[in-house]
Amino acid sequence: MKYTLEDQKTYFETAKAFIKDHLSVDQYDLLIRCIQYHEWKYAVQNDPIITDFEYDQLFDKLKQIELKNPSKVRKDSPTQRVATDLKDHFFSVPHLIPMLSLGNSYNEDDLIDFDSSVRKNAKLTSEDQVYYTIEPKYDGGSIALIYEDDVLIRAATRGNGTEGEEMTANAKAMRSIPLKAAFSKFGIHKVELRGEALIRKDLFHLVNEKRAASDLSLFANPRNAATGGLRTKDANETSARGIETFVFQIGYAIDQNGNDKLQEIKTHFNAITMLADLGFKTPGEGLKLCKTIKEASDFANEWEAKRESYDYEIDGMVIKVNDLQLQDIIGVTQHHPRWAIAFKFKAKQATTRLIGVEYQVGKVGSITPVAKLEPVSLAGVTVSSVSLHNEDFISSRDLMIGDTVLVERAGDVIPYIVKAMKELRDGSEQKIEFPKYCPADQDKKIALIREEGESAWRCPDPMCSAQRIQKLIFHVSKDAMNIDGFGKSNVEKFFELGWLEDLSRVYDLDYTKISALEGFGSKSVEKLQASIERAKANPISRLLHSLSIHHLGKKAGKILASEVNHVLDFVNWDEEKYETIKEIGPVLAKNMVAFFSSASNIELLQRMEAYGVNLKQLESDKPKDIDESSILYGKTILFTGSLQKMKRKEAQQLAEINGAKNISAVSSNLDILVVGEKAGSKLKKAQALGTVKIYTELEFLELLNA
Ligand code: IVH
Repeated sequence: MKYTLEDQKTYFETAKAFIKDHLSVDQYDLLIRCIQYHEWKYAVQNDPIITDFEYDQLFDKLKQIELKNPSKVRKDSPTQRVATDLKDHFFSVPHLIPMLSLGNSYNEDDLIDFDSSVRKNAKLTSEDQVYYTIEPKYDGGSIALIYEDDVLIRAATRGNGTEGEEMTANAKAMRSIPLKAAFSKFGIHKVELRGEALIRKDLFHLVNEKRAASDLSLFANPRNAATGGLRTKDANETSARGIETFVFQIGYAIDQNGNDKLQEIKTHFNAITMLADLGFKTPGEGLKLCKTIKEASDFANEWEAKRESYDYEIDGMVIKVNDLQLQDIIGVTQHHPRWAIAFKFKAKQATTRLIGVEYQVGKVGSITPVAKLEPVSLAGVTVSSVSLHNEDFISSRDLMIGDTVLVERAGDVIPYIVKAMKELRDGSEQKIEFPKYCPADQDKKIALIREEGESAWRCPDPMCSAQRIQKLIFHVSKDAMNIDGFGKSNVEKFFELGWLEDLSRVYDLDYTKISALEGFGSKSVEKLQASIERAKANPISRLLHSLSIHHLGKKAGKILASEVNHVLDFVNWDEEKYETIKEIGPVLAKNMVAFFSSASNIELLQRMEAYGVNLKQLESDKPKDIDESSILYGKTILFTGSLQKMKRKEAQQLAEINGAKNISAVSSNLDILVVGEKAGSKLKKAQALGTVKIYTELEFLELLNA
């Protein structure tokens, strides 16, 4: 370990004191040491002991000192991580030794064969002892780091294995990569390390959420987010994405005279331990020293089982001969070392054929193309259809019917098409013709429209049957009027029977007729009736949201509900009036005015009211001190595991202020589970339930903008 427990206490107290004090240049070195320590805690150990805010304050103090004393700025100062100028291009640099690939294995038998070939190449018998190490095979972008006289002087991507792209500024922006590391302690003058740059799965989701909010295209998986981040021209972006680097290999090490120093380290296990001591992020608990290949194979299976719950994307394990001298004897091929092998987990990528495209109509008429695939198994799940999102997605990937496509299911990301294998085309493929008319009622020939700034084509016909069904399904759903026991299949059945011409008819159903249907016992009809009666009394925030007015989400429903005494008051509102409300944008204002200018919509609401649906503002619709617009409002919440940024009590209070209710057990009543580190059975149970929203502590704070 690079630091002791005593250091933790010292640097914790130093940080607190520094934040309070006005610092002088004499404290420059200590401040750097202090920041370096907290960077290591945060980025290497994933266990920060000060908040991000406190870190930022320390960083600012450092910047101030450096601004006043520019000649004193140290090369390894944490401020030097962030590039100040943007680079125009990346250039190629040669690696000190080639960055090879790895051979693959898929099961225990393959590993036994590997063990035999190791012994053969090393001229050892089956009786001789060979130690192996095993560690995760990280699925990110590989990089090489060169340190000379203890200072990081160059970083490069793998490139073609012989030459990579220089990206030192981006590497310096990663807090998990020490700018300085004491290799000289071991007599090492120059060293090249190999590693993998990755983005943690939960941060990947946050990065995508932020991109969505800024209307930027989304990354398909964490690997793309990480490799893209390595090559961004703006090193600040590398750091903003939270990209981290695990190092797993010393490729080359020499002393001042150019003599090899690698062999002195003796084993791969020693090398990794040394790197961890020097402050690098290493496989840690993922590294195991094994006495037999069987032990390695068991460990690989163990990790395959916990792959999904691991924080980072891994696509296998890497087994290496532990003894460095033995590695040398065994040697390498042009392509890969003979002393190492990748144990690949079940594929998450596969190729299959795109056999057709179907078009689904959403509740506001948006058309979503869905690719029909020849069924294919991806990491144990059969996939036969994937969303193609919109017309632009199809054209940007130049997809055709009949194409062989590469499909991927990464982490908890839903399956998607990575690309078409164009080289396999034989001319029989057909262009995907996006429909001109609504695919739902084809005889009506309703022309689709695409409004400016929207990515989707929409059916403008309010009487479109598919749209009406989707509106009904949404109206009764948990998120909207929350009518328990109604659901999609009942909506479809009742619609077919002509009982649900519009939303108001939900409240005027003939229960005797329903009882006469096959599959409806008196108990289930009674339950349905009770749920519908309950829903009639819902606050108008829910009702507004349930009407499927384009861009009127849950939050806008709550804000608008707090503005009127009665839903029909909106009939008198014009766009300007909506826009006086801070959170309501011009698009929603326009849609609200359009909705409430339509006589049929007004009649719909009047019929609802006549059937007993509440249209008046309720006490719970009125603005309160607690933030009703919060995503947590009215939700049940539970915190589990150890939280890093705040105490459990503080988190619970924060949740309460935002209108959530803390509960103590995981059940179907739980809406949100926030997981800290080392979360155990509660997380598993919530995952098994499938209905609980699961957030990390960071995501929870992001949600509240806290
Ligand atoms: S060792 C000379 N160890 O996998 C041996 N590679 O297919 C070189 N990778 O480009 C590789 N995790 O970027 C090794 N624990 C690990 C790894 C790992 C990921 C990547 C590496 C390389 C690729 C080889």
